Amino acid sequence: MKIDLVNDIKSDIKVEFLDVKSLKKHKQYKTLQRAGFSADQDSVCFLHETGILACGIESNSNDDIRSVCSVAIKTLKASSNNSACFNVDKTNIQAVVEGIVLGGYEYNIYKSKPKKSKLKNIYLACGNIAKVQSTFEEAIIIADATCFTRDIVNTIPEDLNPPTFADLAKKLAKSNGLACEILGEKELRKEKMESMLAVGRASRHDSKLIHLTYKPKQKAKKVISLIGKGLTYDSGGLSLKPGTSMVTMKMDKAGGCAVLGIMKAISELKLDVEVHAFVGAVENMIGGDAYKPDDVLVSRSGTTIEVRNTDAEGRLVLCDVLDYAQDKVKADYMFDFATLTGACMVALGQYTTGVMGHSSKLKHEVLRSATASGELAGTLPFNRHLKKLLKSGIADVSNISSKPYGGAITAGLFLDRFIREENKDKWLHFDIAGSAYTDSPWDCNVYGGTGAGVRMISNFLQNIK
Ligand code: BES
Ligand code: ZN
Ligand code: ZN
Repeated sequence: MKIDLVNDIKSDIKVEFLDVKSLKKHKQYKTLQRAGFSADQDSVCFLHETGILACGIESNSNDDIRSVCSVAIKTLKASSNNSACFNVDKTNIQAVVEGIVLGGYEYNIYKSKPKKSKLKNIYLACGNIAKVQSTFEEAIIIADATCFTRDIVNTIPEDLNPPTFADLAKKLAKSNGLACEILGEKELRKEKMESMLAVGRASRHDSKLIHLTYKPKQKAKKVISLIGKGLTYDSGGLSLKPGTSMVTMKMDKAGGCAVLGIMKAISELKLDVEVHAFVGAVENMIGGDAYKPDDVLVSRSGTTIEVRNTDAEGRLVLCDVLDYAQDKVKADYMFDFATLTGACMVALGQYTTGVMGHSSKLKHEVLRSATASGELAGTLPFNRHLKKLLKSGIADVSNISSKPYGGAITAGLFLDRFIREENKDKWLHFDIAGSAYTDSPWDCNVYGGTGAGVRMISNFLQNIK
């Protein structure tokens, strides 16, 4: 499916956005009314004779436009038309592109007979191409990068394991002009990343640390480190997950996938910021050599960690990667992305990314980027009482809280122990456990990986002064 910006309409189908008011003035009002269309948000009505696809909206807000475009594109793909045209302007073109590209996304590579759509061309008619061209191109780059992230998240653990994850990063680096360094287990041992290594010990795949670098041609305005949890499978380890909770745990690499998607977006947008991506790619399995509850791990920073639950493995990988990243890069911002806790979903619902950190200003700025980019994010507050719950009787810190509440925050506070004093206000932790994956469509998300984080952080990086 190709999307082109055009001056005027030339297609089989014209897509029209209608609210209750504009519906009443529509030429086809009677016909639409007879078909039962009353312009409810996300309702669509196909008038095949006149070549109109009427799309109901509550308002002209980007959220409503993006949402209905996601429904419209599915309807169009299921029809037998070759082309369709949407009217756009500078204010809504980003939402329309997101609705079409993200709402129309399908992941079919494991289907032996995928359905083929006849829809080949989408035209966005805008009157004056020059006025919207750059917004259009940026929106396409970010939406495509989001789909790239979704593709990796959706890939099964047999195909996407730590070594193949590293290969994929190398491929991205090559095509997008990024520097790429991969650390295997030998190098990780040299780096004393024993916490990360312990998590991957029972896997038949070697753990990998991926480091990608994007440097702009011009002088960088800021330096940013992005750190991703890349658990290519989380069985829970010896603290084994129950069967039903294990299904979907291929998505536990979504933080790492988001980080790669952001690297793809910013290198194609050619932003003038320097960005480093660090992904800890590990598989958490069981076996005779698995790490155990009761083990004490010595992390790269020297902090000792009592393992009380091998299913709280993401933080054990991230603490070493965060420490490594702080040694390698003196960053102005340091963001980590992780499907870290089921508790984050309990706290915020499954649609919202949990944002944690010390700087209110920085949290506020990323929440603004989330809204502007069509993602949902909310903050979860740290406090010293929750911090105490990570105390261990035998080591410096326990990998789980001693109490059952506030699990998303205590996980964030665990990571906080590995953030150096000078970086406290530069760091934010994004828990994407709920937002990274969905089993039913919502907004412009479809079954599977959503690409959470890519649009939000691309927007944040676009707006860096
Ligand atoms: N990967 C999971 C968190 C998760 C759960 C992500 C559901 C997406 C959907 C993580 O490694 C985990 O298992 N966390 C435990 C922590 C607990 C043992 C303290 C959890 O959330 O139950
Ligand atoms: Zn786990
Ligand atoms: Zn996990």
